[in-house]
Amino acid sequence: MVQFNDLEDLLKRGNLNRGEFIRAAGMLGVSLSAVGAVLNGGADIVEAATCGPAAMRSRLTKKAHFKVGFAQSELTNPWRTAETNSMQSVFQQHKNRFSYSWNNAYSSTNKQVSNVEDFIAQKVDIIVVTPLQQDPLRAATAKALAACIPVFEIDRESSGKAGTDFVTFIGSDFVGQGKKVARWMVANTKGPINYVELYGTTGATPAILRRKGFHDVIDKQSRFHLLAGQDGNFTLAGGKQVMQNFISKYGQKIDMVYSHNDDMAFGALQALKSAGITKKVFIGTIDGQKKMIQDVAAGLVSVCVQSDPRFGPITFQTINNYLAGQKIPQWVVVHDHTYIKQNAASLVNTGF
Ligand code: AHR
Repeated sequence: MVQFNDLEDLLKRGNLNRGEFIRAAGMLGVSLSAVGAVLNGGADIVEAATCGPAAMRSRLTKKAHFKVGFAQSELTNPWRTAETNSMQSVFQQHKNRFSYSWNNAYSSTNKQVSNVEDFIAQKVDIIVVTPLQQDPLRAATAKALAACIPVFEIDRESSGKAGTDFVTFIGSDFVGQGKKVARWMVANTKGPINYVELYGTTGATPAILRRKGFHDVIDKQSRFHLLAGQDGNFTLAGGKQVMQNFISKYGQKIDMVYSHNDDMAFGALQALKSAGITKKVFIGTIDGQKKMIQDVAAGLVSVCVQSDPRFGPITFQTINNYLAGQKIPQWVVVHDHTYIKQNAASLVNTGF
């Protein structure tokens, strides 16, 4: 992979001009002060340095029509479909002001990085991205920044810093979601509890943070014992497969399942049913599909914390605020319900 030193060599040998050097360094995520130090300052550095979030915005506020590109990570479950439809629908209603397009990374981080690059090449005005994994998408955000295109991260965050490397993160409190499930289990179960955990996609912020939030609470309670945890990739098939493995190893010992999303919890329910396990197994999950809220109302699932995928309206509103010159918080928080047996029937309509 090309390093900053290589760029310096190319510059010294005359194989890169100053502008190419600045852009290439930006794509590597190198700071402008480091670039300026190599180039000894100059007007082109000052120009590149003005491409921070505030300057980007002031360039856009002069326009009347905007091209928005949304880089979706995958379409592997109803949550992703609901998010995609919500974005499409809101921008469709404002065609007079926004041209909207989206692309799908088909669960490939490399593809998502190159999809962001496609939007940069198309010279869109604004990029919205839901990073499949937090670290690899950092490079894509840096490239957009180098091209002076503001990035709004929705649902999941990359490992850059909101407010500096991208405009803002719009999304739920994933740590809080995990804590809510754990607190319910602590308050509503008794005695020793052996549990299994179905992890979301490795390297994705909801998988990392939902795990953290849950363990921050549950690990303080010595009566809870983790039998095993495994990546079920946020899909029904993945959750079912992982749960079948857990059942063949631990069978009736399993008292509780913590699933990082509804689809894997549906997979776990199917696996428990086909294994003929009829004992009470406490299930905690996150997302809030309508079908899941109904399962909570019916007592099949103990607790479900919402993670609302309908990002269209809040993203549209935030972009409009940004274009109107308002200060955008680093985190635009999406607030979520907690579904339990006592409230689920009356809240089914809040599901997707
Ligand atoms: O990033 C949010 C998570 O991604 C949702 O919980 C899950 O269903 C989706 O795939």
